[in-house]
Amino acid sequence: MASTSSFKVWCLVSCALLLATACHGLQVGYYRKTCPKAEALVRAEVKKAVHANPGIGAGLVRMLFHDCFVEGCDASVLLDPTQANPQPEKLGIPNNPSLRGFEVIDAAKSAIEKACPGTVSCADIVAFAGRDASYFLSHSKISFHMPAGRLDGRKSLASETLQFLPGPTSNLSTLVSMFGDKGLNVEDVVVLSGAHSIGRSHCSSFVPDRLNSPSDISQSLANFLRRRCPANAGGANDPTVAQDVITPHALDNQYYKNVLARRVLFTSDAALLSAPETSRMVRANAKYVGSWEKKFAKAMVKMAAIGIKTGSDGEIRRSCRLVN
Ligand code: HEM
Repeated sequence: MASTSSFKVWCLVSCALLLATACHGLQVGYYRKTCPKAEALVRAEVKKAVHANPGIGAGLVRMLFHDCFVEGCDASVLLDPTQANPQPEKLGIPNNPSLRGFEVIDAAKSAIEKACPGTVSCADIVAFAGRDASYFLSHSKISFHMPAGRLDGRKSLASETLQFLPGPTSNLSTLVSMFGDKGLNVEDVVVLSGAHSIGRSHCSSFVPDRLNSPSDISQSLANFLRRRCPANAGGANDPTVAQDVITPHALDNQYYKNVLARRVLFTSDAALLSAPETSRMVRANAKYVGSWEKKFAKAMVKMAAIGIKTGSDGEIRRSCRLVN
């Protein structure tokens, strides 16, 4: 009797684990048989890049978001302009010139193509790289499996970037509705915004919105930013500043402390305090050590499953910058 019930418990636990590893047709260890070194090869390139410049790691975390919100996680953000498609996502305002890390994806793809040609999609490389950059920048506190099996898309339009990526002047209802359109909820908005504890922003992303018009930004941060940023920031005259001046290269919960102290760059960051539900989440993430990191890992896996392409919708590109 005892052994039957423990067998049932075992079955339940294994089913739950199986469900946890297979997400929207994606699978943990997808390349175990076909390209066993794939994930290690990506991790090695990301490690090298983050050690040389942690900002590139921030770029890779952001790249996953920008890939997934536009046409799904299908590497559409990687396509270079061509005669047939002169205005791909890469040239959209949210990506050009600020998105960085493309060379790391190229290096990983080229190492993987040598080991197992035609097997690993660029979309999976972007997802692994976003995961690995989170791992290194969090000093291994954010450590998780990234399910894989994505295909690369063939469609990429600059015009879709502004349509699907929320801008820095977004208020909370815009953020919630744009994340909702992608199957993500209010908590995902709060948890994923925590990525703004690393990397940089160009002045043009928050001037004049946060500096010239009334805003709740802390006086000392506003004064610092006014010294750094020209009032007409943009084009060739667009310096950058750190998103998190306290721990600029650490992916940690400092972001939520900054939100509470009104020391964040964007209206979209400050907006997390504009409703009781999200304010509560911000306070909890700021307070409990280690709890945001776990939520961030889960939310990254969820985001990385948006709009996966299957069958004839996609392909495995030979070069991440060009459709086959
Ligand atoms: C909630 C809506 C979001 C808005 C409005 C937003 C907006 C922005 C903007 C305007 C920048 C600065 C770009 C520049 O001027 O250089 C930025 C940077 C960044 N964002 Fe977001 N973002 C959002 C969500 C996310 C998410 C979900 C992630 C990833 C999980 C993310 C990760 C990053 C990172 C890491 C950077 C720094 C990039 C670098 O240093 O190259 N953001 N974001």
